[in-house]
Amino acid sequence: MKDVHLISLSVNGNEHELVVESRRTLADMLRHDLGYTGTHLGCEHGICGACTILLDDQPVRACLVFGVQADGCEVRTVEGLADGDQLSDLQQAFSDRHGLQCGFCTPGFLMLAEAYLSEADSSADPESVREAMASNLCRCTGYQGIVEAVCDVARSRHPAGST
Ligand code: FES
Ligand code: FES
Repeated sequence: MKDVHLISLSVNGNEHELVVESRRTLADMLRHDLGYTGTHLGCEHGICGACTILLDDQPVRACLVFGVQADGCEVRTVEGLADGDQLSDLQQAFSDRHGLQCGFCTPGFLMLAEAYLSEADSSADPESVREAMASNLCRCTGYQGIVEAVCDVARSRHPAGST
């Protein structure tokens, strides 16, 4: 008999209850059991960051977390950023700054950047953004557009002089 658990979690504000095997990763659970295929899997062993999601507001690599560990948690994935057809400010900035090419890494970078921006202030500079983004890999862009996009949003969300 399989080792399974009944868990409940919120994903982008939607409540889910499901039975999941002990060994199922959060990434596989999100993609295959719940249909949130925006979370991408690259290396599947914690190197590339393509699978980055927010678990109770903290960025985590969903390939390294078991689904059962998300029981009772709030998960945010890339699907939760846009409002219908309206891109979020961060998504629009990635587009404007050419922060993506093939787009495979983009969901992970967007969620990593959201975590960074939630703690950033008006003093966010390219160096600190580059350091924060350094945990994820992009094979296409050279990172410059990604850094510029995150800096743009940091400035717009936290204008100089604001708290
Ligand atoms: S797929 Fe999770 S870190 Fe690469
Ligand atoms: S845009 Fe292709 S891997 Fe980053």
